[in-house]
Amino acid sequence: MIMNVGGHVVSLEGRRILIVGASSGIGRATALAAARAGARVAIAARRLDRLQQVAGEAGEAVWPVQCDVRVPVACELVARAVEQQLGGLDTLVYATAINHLVLLAETDIDTWRDLLETNLVGAALVTRATLPALVSAGGRVAFLSSDSVARPFPGLGAYAASKAGLETLTAAWRAEVSEVTFTRVVVGPTLTGMADGWDPDLAATMFEWWHSIGYLDREPVEPEWVAQRMVRWMAAEDPPEELDLLAESIAERRGSSG
Ligand SMILES: NC(=O)c1ccc[n+]([C@@H]2O[C@H](COP(=O)([O-])OP(=O)(O)OC[C@H]3O[C@@H](n4cnc5c(N)ncnc54)[C@H](OP(=O)(O)O)[C@@H]3O)[C@@H](O)[C@H]2O)c1
Repeated sequence: MIMNVGGHVVSLEGRRILIVGASSGIGRATALAAARAGARVAIAARRLDRLQQVAGEAGEAVWPVQCDVRVPVACELVARAVEQQLGGLDTLVYATAINHLVLLAETDIDTWRDLLETNLVGAALVTRATLPALVSAGGRVAFLSSDSVARPFPGLGAYAASKAGLETLTAAWRAEVSEVTFTRVVVGPTLTGMADGWDPDLAATMFEWWHSIGYLDREPVEPEWVAQRMVRWMAAEDPPEELDLLAESIAERRGSSG
């Protein structure tokens, strides 16, 4: 199947892809877009019902695998399920993340553990578990980072620190494993449910703070917009190691307004 991605014709026919964090938001949109472009896609997250909905929407080329990345053995089992279902792996996308809204002065050890295990350690463990398949395919991995690394929002400092760790992890994998391409994807504000769990009163206070320091200056994009760029990256013959989607969205808007 061939898909037109922003004027580019893209086919992922024959490709075997794992997207971790695909029960909602960007991961979900990317799984649907990759399946439309002809790939076979395994999707992982904790909420099996959501994964099954995504698979139902996509048709026959998407397989749900329940996985909590904070549980090391679950990361191993995802790799095994992918091997059984897809018979190998060309592409891994790590879209999983949580973002507790909490000031650093109030961030306790449990919150730090939850953030780091989900956003950083899980990425390392899923990559380790799938590495043999990725190496044998000469594959590629995308780690979804955030514009928050360069500009941490007050109240999201621990999240930003976990993403900074993820960026260094990306560079460290590159240094150790030359057979696989490891790409850092900088994602800017995107309209997903990532903030759904925030305390509304604290969120209102933080939004006022962010507004007062000029941090609400970036127009959000839709998850489907990000998914299109991810599919283009998946299809690229020589995928870039750096994919700055924030810069791309800003440039696109400037181009269309002037
Ligand atoms: N939205 C934005 O404005 C924005 C900006 C910059 C960067 N990003 C990055 O983009 C990526 C996607 O975020 P999103 O906005 O699409 O958010 P989202 O809709 O909340 O998606 C996050 C995904 O992570 C999964 N997840 C969370 N904890 C998990 C765990 N312990 N084990 C396995 N899966 C887990 C969630 O599924 P379950 O809950 O079912 O497990 C969900 O599928 C993230 O890396 C985020 O940091 C987003």
